[in-house]
Amino acid sequence: MSGRTDLSAALAELESAGYESAWSMPASYYADPEILALEKEHLFGKEWVCIGRVEEVADPGDSMAFTLCEQPLVAVRGDDSKIRVFSNVCRHRGAILVDGKSKGRRIVCPYHHWSYDLDGRLAGAPRMEAHSGFSKSDCRLPEYAVEEWCGFLFTTLAENPEPLGPRLEPLKARIGNYHMEQMKVRHLADEIWHTNWKCLIENFMEAYHLSPLHRTTLHPVNPTRLCTHFPAGDAYFGYNAGYSPDLPRSQKGHPDLTDAEADNCVMFAIPPGLVSGCGGDYSSFICIQPETIDRVRAKLGLIFYGDGWTDAEIEKATVLFNDTMSEDKSVLVGLMRGLAANAYARGPLAPADFEGNVFDFYRYFGRRMAAVLHP
Ligand code: FES
Ligand SMILES: [Fe+2]
Repeated sequence: MSGRTDLSAALAELESAGYESAWSMPASYYADPEILALEKEHLFGKEWVCIGRVEEVADPGDSMAFTLCEQPLVAVRGDDSKIRVFSNVCRHRGAILVDGKSKGRRIVCPYHHWSYDLDGRLAGAPRMEAHSGFSKSDCRLPEYAVEEWCGFLFTTLAENPEPLGPRLEPLKARIGNYHMEQMKVRHLADEIWHTNWKCLIENFMEAYHLSPLHRTTLHPVNPTRLCTHFPAGDAYFGYNAGYSPDLPRSQKGHPDLTDAEADNCVMFAIPPGLVSGCGGDYSSFICIQPETIDRVRAKLGLIFYGDGWTDAEIEKATVLFNDTMSEDKSVLVGLMRGLAANAYARGPLAPADFEGNVFDFYRYFGRRMAAVLHP
């Protein structure tokens, strides 16, 4: 069977299969560049994609450049405190306007100093008055939709997108008391992971490997045995990772948290571009974007509730996070060789509490992509 036929059969199975009869995907799901091109067009090019935290553009005049599906974009907080996302391409001759993060009353192109107001309007174009076919007042940067959700910043390349927030209400009900929107970034890292973007999401979102792979790092904190699956929605999926009662914890979270919530980390994905582990004291997240079939841009972060944290405590949490991620990374790099091997075959998934989110993610993919892959 060709890879695509194989995949077609696997996606068709998702309709009738349950968690108890689920199998992993054929290799072409991860290894076919044509599928990646379709994912970029139909998932990352149309869905809401998380680009980071709202506080990364905290004050009026703050801007943050980023890329989405090869499109250079920039998030800017305006004088009205609203965050907007614009094309990061100058309307004169196409220079990139903002590099990384910056601050300023205006966005000034480095090339010939055309300048733009924080709401995207062209404000200044030196020596251009004489041009007969150009009107400064008609010129502005193309703008894209923005949503803020629990302190995360989302944008989409789609025109007139369906709002994201209402589709996340059941998830918000699970994590509302953690007040992620009040948590502050204390660790942020841009990395390249040499794996398929879907492998990274599957890995972050399954509990089966927590105890075996993370034996000395995460297992003492969130062992596999304390994990439970919860029902997925159309735009999210996740599971609960209980904190081990054997380990003393700091309990610095929001006073709204119930005891049960304080003892639990809500692991959730808002595909295609965000996974997060929402804990009471602090939370982790990764913003994910594919570059090639085995190269992912990942922005990893830790956000902490409240100010009662010493540098040593932050450092300890960061080291635990980084060590855990290193363990994941080493397996995920090897996984790409395994998926490419002649002997690779689909394997059975563990029960819903442990690998149910892998199946939820397949189903999300099937809902969005089956018709595109096999019209
Ligand atoms: S390209 Fe930006 S001012 Fe010329
Ligand atoms: Fe892991």
